[in-house]
Amino acid sequence: MKVLVLSSSPRRDGNSSTMAHAAADGARQAGHQVDFAYLADHVQGLFRDCRTCRDLSGACTVGDDYERLLLDRVVPADGLVIATPLYWYGMSGALKTFFDRLFCYTSGSAPDGDAVAGGLTGKRVALLIACEESYRGATLGLTAQFQELTRYLHQELVGVAVGIGNSRGEVSQDPARPLEQAAELGRRLFDVRVTDYRIDTPRSNRVWESNGARPGVSR
Ligand SMILES: Cc1cc2nc3c(=O)[nH]c(=O)nc-3n(C[C@H](O)[C@H](O)[C@H](O)COP(=O)(O)O)c2cc1C
Repeated sequence: MKVLVLSSSPRRDGNSSTMAHAAADGARQAGHQVDFAYLADHVQGLFRDCRTCRDLSGACTVGDDYERLLLDRVVPADGLVIATPLYWYGMSGALKTFFDRLFCYTSGSAPDGDAVAGGLTGKRVALLIACEESYRGATLGLTAQFQELTRYLHQELVGVAVGIGNSRGEVSQDPARPLEQAAELGRRLFDVRVTDYRIDTPRSNRVWESNGARPGVSR
């Protein structure tokens, strides 16, 4: 499978990037084809008013590398690992801009909007967060936002790893071992089991067989 790891901190040697590299290593160990991108290399401009920003052909005129990142690397990926520092209890500005600017390529007025929107669906997504504060509330909002935006995009959020640290690379000292959690998410990106039942969802009364497999599902 193709996995794109997106690192969205301006600090390339910072905590979320360290987690991103751990996840990339895990995905490689599982035999996946891994691509790694720093958002800062591709996203320079903010989302603008499409009515005044688009050129005559309807194309976005923010003159950076976002389009190539989106069309050549994000859309073809089967799975995304997205790493962000916690900024003001949310994602980094670069990552928010990455999502904001999806609008320019997926709205009804965008050239090939339907094709790009279709190319975003069906992916498995893991979220890696680095932050200074460790209380659960600090990352709740961002986790909820990812749950919603992946639901909206018909993607599957398979897991969230949170690493506590502030100085560069400090997450490696977090006793909760977020680098190992990130590596495990990379390894298991395509086989983590995610369930979301309704009262009438047909199911067995067991979640796991004794061998760890899902009842009725081969692994
Ligand atoms: C602009 C800014 C806002 C921040 N906001 C928070 C915050 O709300 N909560 C928190 O726990 N840490 C916050 N931090 C600390 C970072 O999340 C923390 O240093 C993290 O490890 C940085 O990750 P990085 O090394 O990948 O950039 C903030 C840091 C900056 C620079």
